[in-house]
Amino acid sequence: MKNSLLHDSFENRDGILYFGGVNTVELAEKFGTPLFVYDQERIQSNINRVRRAFQSRYNEFLMLYAIKAMNNSRMLDVIAQKTDGADASRSTEIELAQDAEFPMISYSGNFATNESLISGLKNADIINFDSIEAFQRLMNLIKNSKSSPPIPNSIKGPKLSPPKRITFRINPGFGQGSFENNVFAGHDAKFGIRHEDAVDAYKQAKEAGVEHFGIYMMTGSCVLDPSYFEKVTEKLLDIAGKIRKEVGIQFEWINIGGGFGIPYRPDEKSLDIEKVAEKVIEMLRKKAEEYDLGHPTLMVEPGRYIVGDAGILLTTVQEVKNLSYQPYVGTDAGMNTLLRSVLYPTAYHDVLMANRMNAKPGKKRTIVGGICENTDKIARNRKIPTPKEGDILTFLCTGAYGFSMSFGFNTIPLDAEVLVRDGKAKLIRKRQTLKNMMSNVVPRENP
Ligand SMILES: Cc1ncc(COP(=O)(O)O)c(C=O)c1O
Repeated sequence: MKNSLLHDSFENRDGILYFGGVNTVELAEKFGTPLFVYDQERIQSNINRVRRAFQSRYNEFLMLYAIKAMNNSRMLDVIAQKTDGADASRSTEIELAQDAEFPMISYSGNFATNESLISGLKNADIINFDSIEAFQRLMNLIKNSKSSPPIPNSIKGPKLSPPKRITFRINPGFGQGSFENNVFAGHDAKFGIRHEDAVDAYKQAKEAGVEHFGIYMMTGSCVLDPSYFEKVTEKLLDIAGKIRKEVGIQFEWINIGGGFGIPYRPDEKSLDIEKVAEKVIEMLRKKAEEYDLGHPTLMVEPGRYIVGDAGILLTTVQEVKNLSYQPYVGTDAGMNTLLRSVLYPTAYHDVLMANRMNAKPGKKRTIVGGICENTDKIARNRKIPTPKEGDILTFLCTGAYGFSMSFGFNTIPLDAEVLVRDGKAKLIRKRQTLKNMMSNVVPRENP
């Protein structure tokens, strides 16, 4: 198979797509479609690749997994065994991380609810504050924690203490991502504190009694250029140096965030993670010496790189529409299933016909779902083999921000998820039913 996206998990056996040693057409028959399928081996090898690259060069290295990318608890069980911790974006993800027994938890909310801040305080090892206001809000909640209203129920009880280990998420004034909407820093980003305010933020935190500090950036997602991470590290450490000098803080860790990219298009090159590690660590050593920063732990928190290319989405062709201004193929998956394909207008997921892998490509067609929105075009102008009803179309690289972003518009229940390993498949999330979807609707009152 020539397509460069087809790594070791993929095989073409007599025209049928196998994934993780499992026949995908049989998977579609057994579990129905749309179906998210993940290969455990691939997830493990993605984790190992990151660890090898960084840890072989710098011993004090911690790899956290960003739960938001894919949150199935059975997958988290697997990931928790191989990583050093989890990054949680809400109190609910903190609970998932606890349940999976990740060795440590960092909490990185933005515009967080009070409930999430308090959960971060009580249950996370590190809180990454997205704003000075969030820090002040939490300190006020702590100050008032002996009183009852208006404090939410979840924080009634014994007096709370200031957080032990924190960072502020710094917006360096620039960012990069695979698309405009994937950039998390710069002047148009809602995330982080302005780098000009960093000294003040850490001063406030020190005066408030916080004792252990790190510094943090998460500036964009799906970056394929290794030199970008070096640039982020340089900027982060320049700011750390300034804070060290002006506030006297010795940083115990630096967190350069996630954002390691994966190729989605066959012509994109993989991120050279060895190069990323080499450049980041060179910069870390250089700047640590320049600013007398000691030997801080280096943290990363990738999501996409760990699970993105370890997942595929199986869908079934429902209708081929030729009598229209453009040729369309309708599958049972739509923008509700694969939101990122329409959230980022240039997002791309490569498509294979799993049941006829050796068929020649036909004319260009746009692949759509059955959602009542004209944005419901999950792959535009693709040269797939001439489709017919019942064909199994497979979308690649859907392990990250696939299921976790899916939603139930048009009253379409959420999809099932399957884990494959060594030729065996295990259902890890059942397909939602209408009854599940409506379970919180209050029953009709008797007349
Ligand atoms: C705070 C934070 N950390 C980590 C990640 C993971 O990013 P990625 O999946 O690009 O590695 C994200 C993604 O949105 C994030 O917001």
